Amino acid sequence: MKKADYIWMDKEFVKWDDAKVHVLTHTLHYGNGVFEGTRAYKTERGLAIFRLTDHTKRLINSAKITAITPPYSLSELEEAQIELLKRNRFESNVYIRPLIYLGYGIMGLYHVKAPVNVAIAAWEWGSYLGDEGLENGIRVKISSFARNSVKSTMGKAKAVANYLNSQMAKFEALEAGYEEALLLDEEGFVAEGSGECFFIVRDGVLITPPNDNSLESITQDTVLKIAEKKGIKIERRRITRDEVYICDEAFFTGTAAEVTPIREVDARVIGNGRRGDMTRELQKAYFDVVYGKDPDFEHMLTYIN
Ligand SMILES: Cc1ncc(COP(=O)(O)O)c(C=O)c1O
Repeated sequence: MKKADYIWMDKEFVKWDDAKVHVLTHTLHYGNGVFEGTRAYKTERGLAIFRLTDHTKRLINSAKITAITPPYSLSELEEAQIELLKRNRFESNVYIRPLIYLGYGIMGLYHVKAPVNVAIAAWEWGSYLGDEGLENGIRVKISSFARNSVKSTMGKAKAVANYLNSQMAKFEALEAGYEEALLLDEEGFVAEGSGECFFIVRDGVLITPPNDNSLESITQDTVLKIAEKKGIKIERRRITRDEVYICDEAFFTGTAAEVTPIREVDARVIGNGRRGDMTRELQKAYFDVVYGKDPDFEHMLTYIN
C-alpha cells in the first residue's frame, strides 16, 4: 500500500504513521463498525470523487443498521473526504476508506456506551483485480461458503463483521488457484462476489440479481444506468450456478473491481474465454463516466480543486 501524508481522524489530520488506536478498541474485538470504499479518478479537470454523496449516504445508513450513531453529518463527512484529498496532493487515482468504529472506553457486547470514532484514509491504488484481469478477464470459483444469510446478518450494511465471510471465500478461491470467489445464497442462487456484484449476458440480455443477497452496489447501479442509456435489455432476476456456466459473458462490478470480465468459472470457459463484446462496451463506458468524459453522468463527480 502506498502511504499518503495524512489520515483524517475525528477532525484532525494525523500523519499517516501516527494514525493509531488503542488495542482495546471495541470494534477490534466485537466487529461492529461500518466502512465505505470510494474511488477518485484523475480526470482532465483534476481529481474527482465518484458518487461521493451516494457512498457517504450508504456509510450513514450502514451505521444506522448496526445501531451506531455517527458523530458527524453527511456534509461534514463529505467535506472531510474532499479536504483529505486536497491535503494529500495525490498524483494518480485514489481509493478512499472512511471507517466509523467503536473506540476505546468500554468492553462487553452492549455497545451503546462505546465512543464512536471516525477515520478516513486515502491512498493511491490501481486496479483491484489487476490490469491483466481488466483486459482479459479473471478465473472465478463458486465458493463453498454461502453468502451471509439475511436471517442472521444485515447485508445492506457495509459492516466490518460481514467481511469475515467474504474474506474466507476469497482465501479459499485464491488458495485453490482462482482470482475471485462467487458466493451463492442459502438457496443456491447467485448472491455476489467477495467484494463485487455479478452480471451475466445471455442472448444480448444483461442480467444481474436483485440486491436481496448483495450489497446495494453503487457500481452495479452505474452500469445499469449506462446500459439503460444504451438501450440494452436488462433483467433483474435470480441466476443459478448452471446458468452461469452456459452464459455468453460474465463480469464483476465494484468500486474496487470496477468492471472486471470473467473468463472462467469452475473450469468452465465463459463465452469465448476472453472479455465479451458487451462487457467491453460497458467497461469502456464506465471508465468514460468515472473519468468525466460522459456529460450525462457528470453530476456523479465531485471535483477536488
Ligand atoms: C460485498 C460487496 N458487494 C458488492 C460490492 C460493490 O459495491 P460498490 O459498487 O458500491 O462498490 C462491494 C464493494 O463495496 C462489496 O464489498
